[in-house]
Amino acid sequence: MDQTRTPYFDVLLDYVDSGVIPFHTPGHMQGKGMDRALRDFLGDNVLAIDLTQIRGLDDLLQPQEAIREAQALAAEAYGADNSFFLINGSTSGNQIMMMAALNPGEKMALPRNSHKSAMGGLIMSGVQPVWMQPEVDESLHMDHTVAPETVRRTLDEHPDIKAVYIVSPTYYGVAADLVAIAKVTHERKIPLLVDEAWGPHFRFHPALPIDAIAAGADLAINSTHKMLGSMSQTAMLHHKGKRIRIDRLKAVVKLFLSTSPNLVLVASLDVARKQMATEGAALLSRTIELADDTRRRLNAIEGVYCFGEEQQGKPGVFDLDPTKITITVKALGYTGYEAEEILRRRYNVQCELADLFNCLALYTIGTTQEAADRLVYGVKELAREDRPIDVFSPSGVLNRRIKKGTYALPKIPPIRMNPREAFLSPTEVVRFKQSAGRVCAEVITPYPPGIPVISPGEVITQEIVEYLDLEKRAGVRMQGPYDSELRTIRVVVEA
Ligand SMILES: Cc1ncc(COP(=O)(O)O)c(C=O)c1O
Repeated sequence: MDQTRTPYFDVLLDYVDSGVIPFHTPGHMQGKGMDRALRDFLGDNVLAIDLTQIRGLDDLLQPQEAIREAQALAAEAYGADNSFFLINGSTSGNQIMMMAALNPGEKMALPRNSHKSAMGGLIMSGVQPVWMQPEVDESLHMDHTVAPETVRRTLDEHPDIKAVYIVSPTYYGVAADLVAIAKVTHERKIPLLVDEAWGPHFRFHPALPIDAIAAGADLAINSTHKMLGSMSQTAMLHHKGKRIRIDRLKAVVKLFLSTSPNLVLVASLDVARKQMATEGAALLSRTIELADDTRRRLNAIEGVYCFGEEQQGKPGVFDLDPTKITITVKALGYTGYEAEEILRRRYNVQCELADLFNCLALYTIGTTQEAADRLVYGVKELAREDRPIDVFSPSGVLNRRIKKGTYALPKIPPIRMNPREAFLSPTEVVRFKQSAGRVCAEVITPYPPGIPVISPGEVITQEIVEYLDLEKRAGVRMQGPYDSELRTIRVVVEA
């Protein structure tokens, strides 16, 4: 196929050029009905192609024309049999994968550090999770990926598992041994689903980890908007082989799409695919060089550590995405949250995320040398600043907690109910600090990185209460609970 083509973007442009007089949605009528402030800011071009699925513009739910061709080009570029454009992110991709691959009540093996959208998938699909413990790096205080041996052991212990779901790469760019995991999974004649939200660029550069479809995944999702040039909310779902039925997959995809998809977003996926297929390797080479150079410069600053190749081969670290720079600031005496805030307030640099020990800087094909220099400058200054209270000093509060083990990542709690069952059960609100022993009815996720600590159907342990309490006091936002301050929590009313 001709990867230089952008069939969907082209039909939108043709529609505008033909000067059609619109009597159709959206109601702003190509901008004319929109309030001036936003219209002027966006510009008429964006609004002119914010159209609906009328004749000639195809239908994302039932593609026959230009969207079909655009998705076929994407499938070819990604080495898939079928690719689907999603406009509600990998969030919907996770939900689709589970509903396409499994029936309610069936078991699926998945890592404990799955994104919270996987939890949404479990609730919607009624799938029963069998959690797998990812490898943990205690010094970086970070979960990596699940090892193939863990997958094998889990499948041995639960021979009735119907699918394996893996997150690779992690938020921090650590990739799993997907080839080995695919082999173990397929030996049992079940499908492998991969949340590759953070890896839409892998396919296009040899220095990046192998992409999920090439490694043998039956389904994989990419948040195209996270690492490539498409707009927010856009993602792709890739399908390969016969283990997942295409008719079922197509039917499920439709359930998750609006009948009025934003066509600007769809066009941005078409264009992002073309960009990668035609110039991806060159653009990514530059990005990787810039990121490697920044990592070297940051590592030269005393007290700062950015992990790299030396971590490769450690448990759960099969491969690394060099475009992610994890800046470990622990030795400076700052939490990652504090460092993130200082970098933003004093140096106007905004990281992708912070956790207790780290800030994460994302490098993409849009990152410039000037931006990289500014990041390095900000971190250099941060390292020079006087730290009034070193939270990690021998007497510092966090160090005491870490030593006592009360800041270790909590163990996977016992499961008493299926997530969907617990989510839909009668609930009551109790004080969070007194909730140990109760069955949780909500998903509680420190954000970022967006990994649930407790989810519906799980027994709240004292360890989890203490851990979440500390995260809260360290300034982490809690996503999911009805009471965002987490003074109270919704639990299942048990007979
Ligand atoms: C591993 C992982 N999966 C899925 C998602 C959801 O992706 P999106 O924001 O595209 O819906 C995220 C978001 O951060 C993520 O980190």
